[in-house]
Amino acid sequence: MSADKSSSWSYSEDLPAEDEVMLRARERSFELGVSAISPGVGAVLTVLAAASKAQTAVEIGTGAGVSGVCLLRGLGPHAVLTTIDVDVEHLRAAREAFAEAGSPANRTRTISGRAGDVLPRLTDGAYDLVFIDADKPGLPGYVEQAVRLLKRAGLLVINDALDKDKVANPAGREPNTVTLRQVGKAIRDDDRLSSAMLPTGDGLLVAVKK
Ligand SMILES: C[S@@+](CC[C@H](N)C(=O)[O-])C[C@H]1O[C@@H](n2cnc3c(N)ncnc32)[C@H](O)[C@@H]1O
Repeated sequence: MSADKSSSWSYSEDLPAEDEVMLRARERSFELGVSAISPGVGAVLTVLAAASKAQTAVEIGTGAGVSGVCLLRGLGPHAVLTTIDVDVEHLRAAREAFAEAGSPANRTRTISGRAGDVLPRLTDGAYDLVFIDADKPGLPGYVEQAVRLLKRAGLLVINDALDKDKVANPAGREPNTVTLRQVGKAIRDDDRLSSAMLPTGDGLLVAVKK
C-alpha cells in the first residue's frame, strides 16, 4: 500500500460531478461564511441515504443546504428530512437550495434553534439516518441524542471526524480536535453501534445502530 494517499483522496473528491443547483448552494454557503461538506462527502451521503432506503432523516447543521440537497437526492420520494440550524439566514438559503433541487416543501422540516434544545423534542427510535455537521463542543451530546433517535439499523454519520488530519496526530490538542478524537473512540467502543471511519472529505464517521 502506498504511504501517500493524497492523490487518491484528491481524485475521489474531484470525481463527483456537481450540477448547477449544488454549485449555487455552494456559492450561497461561501457568501454566508458556511463551510459546506466536500463533493466526496456529498456523494457518500446520497449513496447512504439511498442504500438505507431511509424514510426519516435528521440533519444537525443545515448550513446553506449543500448536504441537505445531497441527502434529499438519496432519500425516497416520500421521505422527510428534518434539518436543524441555529442561524435563520442559513435556513433561508437552504430552503432556496431545496426548492431549486425540486424538493416539495413537505419533504423538509426546517427547524430553527440550538440543536441541544431541539433534539430532545424529537421522538425516540423514529429516524433511519442522523447526519451531524454542527458545532464541535455539542458533538458528544448530539451523538447521544442520535443513538436515542435512531431506529434499529439506522445510520449515524458525522462530518469532519478527522479534523483536517489533526485527529490522527497525537500532538493535536486543540479542544475541537480532542473532542473529535474522544467521540471517535467512544463510538468505536460503543456496544450499541458498529462503526467505520472513512477518510472522505475531512473524515466521515459512519455507524449503524445494532
Ligand atoms: C459546517 S456548517 C453546516 C454545513 C452544511 N451541513 C452543509 O454541508 O451545507 C455548520 C452549521 O451548524 C450551525 N450550528 C452551529 N452551532 C449550532 C447549534 N448549537 N445548533 C444548531 N446549529 C448550529 C451553523 O449555523 C452552521 O450553519
